[in-house]
Amino acid sequence: MADDAPAPRKLDTTVPHPARIYDYWLGGKDNFEADRKVAEAVINVSPGVVEGVRDNRAFLGRAVRFLAEQGIDQFLDIGTGIPTQGNTHEVAQAVNPAARIVYVDNDPIVMNHARALLRGTREGRTAYVEADLREPDSILKHPDTLATLDFGRPIAVVIVGTLMFIRDEEDPFGIVRRYTDASVPGSYLAISHVTGDFAPESLEAFAAAYNTGPVPLTLRTGAEISRFFDGFELVEPGLVAVGEWRSDPDEDPFLANRVHGGYGAVGRKL
Ligand SMILES: C[S@@+](CC[C@H](N)C(=O)[O-])C[C@H]1O[C@@H](n2cnc3c(N)ncnc32)[C@H](O)[C@@H]1O
Repeated sequence: MADDAPAPRKLDTTVPHPARIYDYWLGGKDNFEADRKVAEAVINVSPGVVEGVRDNRAFLGRAVRFLAEQGIDQFLDIGTGIPTQGNTHEVAQAVNPAARIVYVDNDPIVMNHARALLRGTREGRTAYVEADLREPDSILKHPDTLATLDFGRPIAVVIVGTLMFIRDEEDPFGIVRRYTDASVPGSYLAISHVTGDFAPESLEAFAAAYNTGPVPLTLRTGAEISRFFDGFELVEPGLVAVGEWRSDPDEDPFLANRVHGGYGAVGRKL
């Protein structure tokens, strides 16, 4: 960590945290009783959640691979999550070993694991910034970000499964704009976000159960989520259910029967 970096956040395992709740749904081990309580309460009222988060994780992988195949070799991945399969640097560096990644999260557990597990290739580079998405300067001006990413060339800003934790009054659109304003034309933005558009009752029950914890989430409509991409051209197939974004129905024959709970899209800055 740089000398002038803020003090790390304290870890309190008695308070449920989004990263660890998500880890539980993905079948991970980095979660505590408080997290499991919320995670199970959500499963009880919205049983499709486990498939939904797996779809979300798979979207992240397909989006990063797509971006790397477009020649993008710099990634700012905000809301990294606890390392699991198909982490951003693994996917990107499988396409281009020289790809560089800055991982950002505000959960100390995520960052501890990330530093230990998310080692990049020799040619590439990975950096870890413990910071809050809502404080763009703490990320964009962080010395490790600046040492890893060249903002004079296209980058991909990846904010997957995270913007629903920013409330409307915190100005999520203005926050994302700060990151995209810092990137040059030809850069990309990849987002996924929970929505009630496909299955309103199930997702409203999901949100109500989730929001018994200290970090509430906000469901947003497709029209609202599209606003994150103002000034961007969406790549095919546009804003769709995460499971349907450039997926192969032959590999996932049950996709059509799924309760969809999230949108995903990738856009290119004009
Ligand atoms: C649902 S997980 C998504 C993880 C990963 N992006 C994925 O899609 O598999 C959300 C992550 O965002 C992080 N997060 C939530 N609010 C945040 C904030 N304000 N600043 C930074 N990270 C945040 C959580 O700690 C968690 O790791």
